[in-house]
Amino acid sequence: MKTTEQFDSKSYLTGFEAINEEYTLKPEIEGTLPKNLNGDFIQVGPKGGKIAGKDVHWLDANGMISQWRIENGKVSFKNRFITTKEIKEEELLGKRKHRGYFTNIEGGWFNNFGKMPRNPANAWIVDAPNGNLLASGGFGVPVEVDPNTLEVIEDSPFLKSLPKKWHSWITEPVHHSKTDSMFILAGYLFGKNLKPYVELVEIPKKGKPKLVKRINLNDVYLTHTFAITNNYAVIPISPYRTGLKRALGAFAGFYPYTEAPKWRPNEPLRFYVIALDGSSTKIIKTKAEHPQHIVNAYEDDNGNIIVDCEVYKNGILPLAELEAARNDAPLDYSAPGGDLVRYKLNEKDVVTKKVLSEEKIIYPFIDEELVGQSNSYVFAVTNPSWSDSGLLKVNANNIKDTSGIESLRFVGGGPVLVKTEDNSSLIMCPVFTGGSTNISELHIYSGINFELHCKLKLPINIPFSTHCHFVEKKI
Ligand SMILES: [Fe+2]
Repeated sequence: MKTTEQFDSKSYLTGFEAINEEYTLKPEIEGTLPKNLNGDFIQVGPKGGKIAGKDVHWLDANGMISQWRIENGKVSFKNRFITTKEIKEEELLGKRKHRGYFTNIEGGWFNNFGKMPRNPANAWIVDAPNGNLLASGGFGVPVEVDPNTLEVIEDSPFLKSLPKKWHSWITEPVHHSKTDSMFILAGYLFGKNLKPYVELVEIPKKGKPKLVKRINLNDVYLTHTFAITNNYAVIPISPYRTGLKRALGAFAGFYPYTEAPKWRPNEPLRFYVIALDGSSTKIIKTKAEHPQHIVNAYEDDNGNIIVDCEVYKNGILPLAELEAARNDAPLDYSAPGGDLVRYKLNEKDVVTKKVLSEEKIIYPFIDEELVGQSNSYVFAVTNPSWSDSGLLKVNANNIKDTSGIESLRFVGGGPVLVKTEDNSSLIMCPVFTGGSTNISELHIYSGINFELHCKLKLPINIPFSTHCHFVEKKI
């Protein structure tokens, strides 16, 4: 493992400071920008722990997009705040009007009764089939953003083309490289017999969105991720569920929505395996665990389904870590981060599991071109203790074949791996330098051996972002 310079252990806190200005800047390039790399590296995250000037849970804060545009050997940067109708309304009022996922508004249950949270658009961002960007805080109606101005597009043309019943997204969408379709999961509280259900929907590049399959559930589950192989959707449903009483309690405003689900260690983790032509649904059970981020799933030559993901044994989500980090509070459990896991779902519906790394990890990633196809290497951010995280590369077929960078200081968001036109494999990773340096960086490494190509440097602190994204441009 390689080691870069250390920085003082409290410097990561700068990653949780609000940024109050919108900048357009020219980053300094230290090193050599790889040839044939063109596109936008996009970070999205909460712009700071405030709404209308008042402190709020970090993850309820409104989203901010940071865009590093790389074009013909030149780099430009801009950050823009996401201002939806609801966000503008609150800023004008000077106070919160809408519930968040993590916190209620003032005034007790009476003021919160029956209100759904507004989308802060601060957790993930992807490109929509129409070429615009879609941002979300995780659940709810996504926000459409212009990829050049980074402004919110009111009356979203993407959402206009998607029937309203499918606007209630519960996870990040998945791009299916084989068909170029986007798949989404839409969630509903009350279906038949007043039970919740989820719909898997295919949004083709051209043509109308269509229902693949409805899944009826017995409760409201907290689901964060799913995957698409050549022929199947793989949806993990972990025993992280609310129960009717707690769901109604949250709806009625007695506590925030994210406090409703409870971890049920005696219930199974279920993988729903749904044929993309809608012809079959299989439910494969294994012991309770919580896959937080699936990075890939594919069918191997023997008919098994392989699923690579970040897994939490006791259902604890890393959200608690973010909030503890921001408050500089000690974590109340010993091992932040999850396990990097490869599950095998075989034709006899048995799940076997291989842990790929001894280190705890977060934000696993692979070569984006391989999503849905067989992948040997899995990458991840290691040691997400917010002060000396690093990067890891594991050969899933031989986990002794592991390399990486230790102590990259503080990784500032989920890295991505891109292939350029000349087939170079590159890792793009945001990093805080923190402390008195007040610099944010985007590092570009070789995806083969972690050789550093360059650091792009900015004289501002970009707060911690969650999932990052790269939109490649052919020039
Ligand atoms: Fe996530």
